[in-house]
Amino acid sequence: MTLPRYILGLESSCDDTAASVVDMDGPTVLSNVVWGQNDLHRAFGGVVPEIAARAHAEKMDGAVELALEKAGMTLADVDGIAVTAGPGLIGGVLSGVMCAKGLAATTGLPFVGVNHLAGHALTPALTDGLAFPYLMLLVSGGHCQFLIVKGPEEFTRLGGTIDDAPGEAFDKTARILGLPQPGGPSVEKAAQDGDATRFTLPRPLLDRDDCNMSFSGLKTAILRTRDSLMTDNTLRRQDRDDLCAGFQAAVVDVLTAKTRRALSIYMELEPQTPAIAVAGGVAANEAIRSALQDVATQAGAEFSAPPLALCTDNAAMIAYAGGLRLRSGARDGMDLSARPRWPLDQSKPSMLGSGKKGAKA
Ligand code: KG4
Ligand code: ZN
Repeated sequence: MTLPRYILGLESSCDDTAASVVDMDGPTVLSNVVWGQNDLHRAFGGVVPEIAARAHAEKMDGAVELALEKAGMTLADVDGIAVTAGPGLIGGVLSGVMCAKGLAATTGLPFVGVNHLAGHALTPALTDGLAFPYLMLLVSGGHCQFLIVKGPEEFTRLGGTIDDAPGEAFDKTARILGLPQPGGPSVEKAAQDGDATRFTLPRPLLDRDDCNMSFSGLKTAILRTRDSLMTDNTLRRQDRDDLCAGFQAAVVDVLTAKTRRALSIYMELEPQTPAIAVAGGVAANEAIRSALQDVATQAGAEFSAPPLALCTDNAAMIAYAGGLRLRSGARDGMDLSARPRWPLDQSKPSMLGSGKKGAKA
């Protein structure tokens, strides 16, 4: 039996409508279409689930057509379909799952549902050929966790955020300081002109000897400090930039301290493959990337960070993760359901907190 080679991936779990074709013999990303929805949500200061779901339903088939066209293919050339089946905003996930089912029903192609977090966690295997096992820090707008990635469907969670995800904290900080969404890039840009030492901001849970993190207190501290700096209802540009720099430095400190801890646990468990990878939208942040690179270098571990376009939400990671499942013989049927919550490590209890994408882990 020949293994499925060309996989069409669909992703719609938050605010990006994405489709991609991946050649599993390589593996190579043949196309990667990502249509963001920032314009639709801007006025509301955050992702509105109902608006997101409707936009996914309207746009997904167009994204699929374009992904096929860019790969120089038609549906007849595809060997299998992979779709994000959770975790995420339920309406959006449903749009993608229904579209995938429609495509599978009309073509007879095999299809599988993919865990969005598995997509992020497996990306370094797609982009850098990183061999299992490796430690993964997944940092995005909805998630923050340390995972030992042992295989395509085998994950052990070492810890994670107990409240907000870092991307969520970046987005909220941007909102508090009047910067545009998504907050990560705009806070990072403002931080370049700021003094990170001017304000003393909290670094929660650093005294705890575990891999858990907390970011919600940081946003409250930003709000309070902003209020103390406002005159005539306005915030000076320099004050804003200093706050951004201080905020980013606090996130960097928490992530690096906890990564050091997670890496030492991982290296005791898996001394043969000292490797850490980072993924998720927040991994696009230069200061965070280079701080994590330093932690890896100091520990003598390989460091892998996917290219920016594959760090943020995309369908190539879903095609690849689904392709691995399809090649191992997995198939889903028309009864595949969309799951708003879907922890990767089912052996661990859910962590507290829920953000724009639901439970954190
Ligand atoms: O992985 P992603 O595209 O979607 C989720 O699964 O959440 O991550 C989006 C998040 C947003 O919160 C965004 O503000 C953050 O990633 N982000 C960044 C940067 N670029 C995107 N955070 C910090 N610095 C950045 N440069
Ligand atoms: Zn994501």
